[in-house]
Amino acid sequence: MNSQTRTRVLTGITTTGTPHLGNYVGAIRPTVQASRDTSTDGFYFLADYHALIKCDEPARIQRSTLEIAASWIASGLDPDIVTFYRQSDIPEIPELTWLLTCVTGKGVLNRAHAYKAAVDKNNGAGHDPDSDVTAGLFMYPVLMGADILMFKAHKVPVGRDQIQHIEMARDMASSFNHLYGEHFVLPEAVIEESVALLPGLDGRKMSKSYDNTIPLFAPAAQMRKQIAAIVTDSKAPGEPKTTEGSALFQIYQAFASAEETAAMARAYAEGIGWGDAKQMLFERIDREIAPMREHYQALIDNPAEMDKILLAGADKARQLATPFMRELRHAVGLRALSSGNTAPAAKEAKTSLPSFKQYREKDGQFYFKLVDAKGQVLLQSLGFASPKEAGQAIAQLQTDGPAALDTLKPVLALNLEAEKVLKEVLSLLKANSDANRK
Ligand code: TRP
Repeated sequence: MNSQTRTRVLTGITTTGTPHLGNYVGAIRPTVQASRDTSTDGFYFLADYHALIKCDEPARIQRSTLEIAASWIASGLDPDIVTFYRQSDIPEIPELTWLLTCVTGKGVLNRAHAYKAAVDKNNGAGHDPDSDVTAGLFMYPVLMGADILMFKAHKVPVGRDQIQHIEMARDMASSFNHLYGEHFVLPEAVIEESVALLPGLDGRKMSKSYDNTIPLFAPAAQMRKQIAAIVTDSKAPGEPKTTEGSALFQIYQAFASAEETAAMARAYAEGIGWGDAKQMLFERIDREIAPMREHYQALIDNPAEMDKILLAGADKARQLATPFMRELRHAVGLRALSSGNTAPAAKEAKTSLPSFKQYREKDGQFYFKLVDAKGQVLLQSLGFASPKEAGQAIAQLQTDGPAALDTLKPVLALNLEAEKVLKEVLSLLKANSDANRK
């Protein structure tokens, strides 16, 4: 497949901590696997600007950046194949953040989960709603939108808690496209259903905030000790054990094949002692991690080499970001005074392609319409239960053009007289979307 038709997959990890088994199973391992799919172009980055929102310890951010970068590479990510970079090495990202800030409703950001949670907590405690809330936390979704839209990502693999951010990025892209012409690709979140949510030492989700993690690349002896600390019930060896609700079993499953997992389930039923089960778990994890541990340590011991790798990645990323930013600056009017179009009346954007508008009606359903430059409605949808379904129909119209009309007829209110014009417009949009897939 050539680069024009390849799907762009992009994701980032915030650099605030030491990677643990939960990060490995939930994010690092699946992205490394996905990066080997030759029908996709991978963009993987260290979200260190995002880290500043949560962390004011410079040394920790620096160390975490090194550790996460080394973990990704030691786990098999190949910087020669994917574009692997550090967010703060791309000055175009904060620049784009500003352009997006200017097309993002403040009310939309008021509804972002992370900000709302902080406000709810303050309200609950009787504090000022915005007490201790930085503008950085408030702007988090816009910075993330810039990460995604800068590289015209089609698919963004994330955890469930991030879906809202991807939807906001879509909205920013459509608002911008509507105002200034079709520049951005509308991204989609990818939630990997099969990826395990790993429990931690205490049985709750493994997370730095619960202090229940097992570091991914701890020395073997330390990992063995930590595994020994996983909570179990107090059943004695010989007593049958239940796999359900067993953190130890769930962690084992995240590393083992189906056969190995079935064998472990039988061992539980036959009353394996907890000490033996923990030894089996340690050996299984170590079998996967040990071959990477040395590589990880070599990378950690040579931060200058990692700087080189990341700067080379930033170079590659900026080959796209720099010209694209130039295009965007021009589109919004930040351009040479001699470059024409100085007459204030000429609203160039209004001569741009018709665009899709998504909205919600009082009936609670989600709709879209296709509106041309003069505000004329070319196509009206019926109601959808979720914004995602409406978005999928739009995506189908954009990528398949007139051909999509046949399958979508039941969900559209078509004006047959206008069908010819509509088909021409959809062909144009399809051509545009094909061009954007570069
Ligand atoms: N917010 C993401 C997280 O905490 C990290 C992130 C930053 C990201 N920018 C991104 C993920 C862009 C995907 C795409 O998990």
